[in-house]
This record gives sequence, structure tokens and C-alpha cells, in this order.
Amino acid sequence: MKVLLTGGAGYIGTHTCIELIKSGYEVVVVDNLCNSSADSIKRVEIITGKKISFYKLDIRDKNALVQLFKRETIGGVIHFAGLKAVGESVEKPIQYYENNLCGTIILADVMREFNCKTFVFSSSATVYGDPQTVPIKEDSQLSAVNPYGRSKLMIEEFLQDIFVSDDSWKIAILRYFNPVGAHESGLVGEASNNIPNNLMPYLSQVASGNIDKLKIFGGDYDTPDGTGIRDYVHVVDLAGGHVKALNKLNKKPQILKVNLGTGIGYSVLEMVKAFELASGRKIAFEIVDRRQGDIAISYTDPSYAEESLNWKAKYDLEKMCQDTWRWQSQNPDGYNNTVK
Ligand code: NAD
Ligand code: WQD
Repeated sequence: MKVLLTGGAGYIGTHTCIELIKSGYEVVVVDNLCNSSADSIKRVEIITGKKISFYKLDIRDKNALVQLFKRETIGGVIHFAGLKAVGESVEKPIQYYENNLCGTIILADVMREFNCKTFVFSSSATVYGDPQTVPIKEDSQLSAVNPYGRSKLMIEEFLQDIFVSDDSWKIAILRYFNPVGAHESGLVGEASNNIPNNLMPYLSQVASGNIDKLKIFGGDYDTPDGTGIRDYVHVVDLAGGHVKALNKLNKKPQILKVNLGTGIGYSVLEMVKAFELASGRKIAFEIVDRRQGDIAISYTDPSYAEESLNWKAKYDLEKMCQDTWRWQSQNPDGYNNTVK
């Protein structure tokens, strides 16, 4: 089966390409490279030994998508393409809604036109807003507190409406917790075109000396050490979740909503310690005010992922930090640098 990955040159997309190819799927990638580089695809080719069909296009360009669907027989789509920086979404809501919502609508319309009805969507734990209880189950209350999160929630509802209108669709909505880590080869990893927003890229930048110190956002949360707790999940595990989701969808039409996380929460201070161990470097930090919009604790109940997809995260925090550090050490400038 040939699978189209929108945003497949990005962080999670590249790792998913590798896992799909390993499992016998053929992949086609589209990406406008607004937050990635075509070199990432070359690295995936080195790892897998397979040539990847890559189309540099914007999924909002309906005509270009139609041409692609005419050329390639696409059996299913994994839809990663989107803008993902929470803070930026507050400043640029029009761009975020335009890209994330319009892109998805155009994509779904072209899929319908070509009778391609298998759709895996990258959603986020952000759709649970500030959860009332942890661990978070899939039927927890949904709410979003910023334009990025609302765009994800709206897309989830849009996909639900598509399924209501035509129940021959096969849809998996995957709600990722906090993806971290990199491929163990050190050839692909997270290389954003922007300044990092998330904790793990910050930790690796501090360890490598590019940034002086980590600012820990809040030391007064109601958690054992006062810092925020999250469910970090290795990107290779996450990528495997997409393969499992496709395998499951291939069996019958359905709409699934599944959390992908480990079920274990770590605090920011625990992350600092784990990264120091993996990198052998000291991480300087200072505790500053809370970041607006942050929540104290988020981690999933992983049981439904296991029950519905037969998926369970394998990799622990030590491996997440070691692989991040290998990627960072071998590629200090992301894909702009040659592999050492
Ligand atoms: P990423 O930015 O590395 O990958 C997204 C890719 O989509 C990029 O390569 C970008 O160039 C491309 N893209 C964006 N808009 C496009 C468009 N209109 N047309 C074509 N390509 C376009 O991000 P990622 O971390 O790999 O995230 C993938 C998906 O997972 C996103 O939808 C994101 O919202 C979601 N997600 C990410 C996280 C996370 O922390 N990384 C957590 C939850 C959900
Ligand atoms: C983790 C913890 C911070 C940076 C975001 C999005 C979410 C999803 C994943 C896309 C928190 C603390 C962080 C720093 C810090 N993305 N921190 N100093 O906020 O859980 O989730 O990314 O869907 O939608 O909201 O992840 O990595 O930014 O933060 O102290 O410089 O690290 O306060 O406790 P978050 P994160």
C-alpha cells in the first residue's frame, strides 16, 4: 500500500517514513518545507536504502494535490502538515487557522475525489486543555486554550463530521503527548527552522553550549518538585503508532481517537537530570515565572492505545535523552551541517 505523508519532511514525519518502509509500506512525501529541509528526506533514504517520492508542494494548492493523486495511487494519508508553535499561534491566528484548517479541508476534499478514505491525523494532547484528572483517558473533556489547540480540535470535529456523512471512511485521530528523541542512527531528528519552543530541544541546546541556561517555567506547581510534569514519548515509538493505526484501519471502516504516550510523567527537573546523565554535560538553569497557558501535569492512560492498536511505547527516558544527544552532537546545525 502506498501511503502519502503530508509534512513528511518534518520531525515526526521522517521517523514515520522509516517505520512505514520497515513495515513494507511504500511512502510518498509532500511538504512545502516551511519548517523542514529536503535533506531530511535524503537522510531517510540513507537509513532505509529506498528512494522516496518527494513533492515539494503546499497542501493548500488543490490543483497540485490533484496532480499528485493522478500520478500516484495513494491508498491512505497520514496528515502531519501543519504549523505547531503554540506561542506563535496566539500572535498569528490567521496563518494558523488558514494553514491547519484550510490545508486539511483541501486534502480531505481531494481524497474524497479520488476515493481515498484512509486518514490518520496528527492531533495533540493539547486538545485536553487543563485536564481535571490524570492520567488522561480518550473520553476526558476536550477544550483548547490557544489557536493552535483550537485548530486541532476543529479538525478532529471536521473528521468526525466526515465519518458521520460517510461511514466508509477509515480515520485515526492520534493525540500525541510530548514527542522527543531521534532516530538512533543520529541521521534524523528534530531540526526546526525556528528557535526551539519545547523543553527537549532547549535542553540539548544548553548542553551543547548554544544557549547559556535553561529557563524553567515555574517552580511552584502542585507537583512533587514544583516543576511541570509531562509524558515524553520517543519519536520512534510514536512513529510505530502510525504503522499500527494504519494496520488497524486497513481491517475496517471506523473512526478511532487514541492517545499516544508512555503513561509516565516526568518533571522538568527530572528531565534536566536525565539529560545531564545522557550528555555528560552540566545543564545550567534558573527557575523563572510560569509560562502563560502552561498546565501543571499531563500524562496519558496508555491502556486504550494498547487495546485498540496493540501499541505500547518501548523506549525509556534514558534512551530518549541519549538519542536526542546523539542527533544534537552529530548535527549541531540540524540538516545544514554534513554528517560527521
Ligand atoms: P514539523 O514542523 O517538524 O513537521 C510539519 C511539517 O509540515 C513541516 O515539515 C512543514 O514544512 C510542513 N508543512 C506545514 N504546513 C504545510 C503545508 N501547508 N503544506 C505542506 N507542508 C506543510 O512538526 P512535527 O513535530 O513533525 O509535527 C507533525 C504534526 O504533529 C503537526 O501537525 C503537529 O501539530 C503535530 N504534533 C506535534 C507535536 C510535537 O510536539 N512535535 C505534538 C503533538 C502534535
Ligand atoms: C514541557 C515542560 C514547560 C521549555 C507543547 C504544546 C503541545 C505539544 C507539545 C504540539 C513544561 C517546561 C519548557 C523551557 C521549561 N505540541 N519548559 N522551559 O508545553 O507540554 O506542550 O509541545 O502539539 O501542544 O503545548 O511542551 O516541551 O514546551 O514543555 O521549563 O524552555 O517543560 O513549562 O512544563 P508542552 P514543552
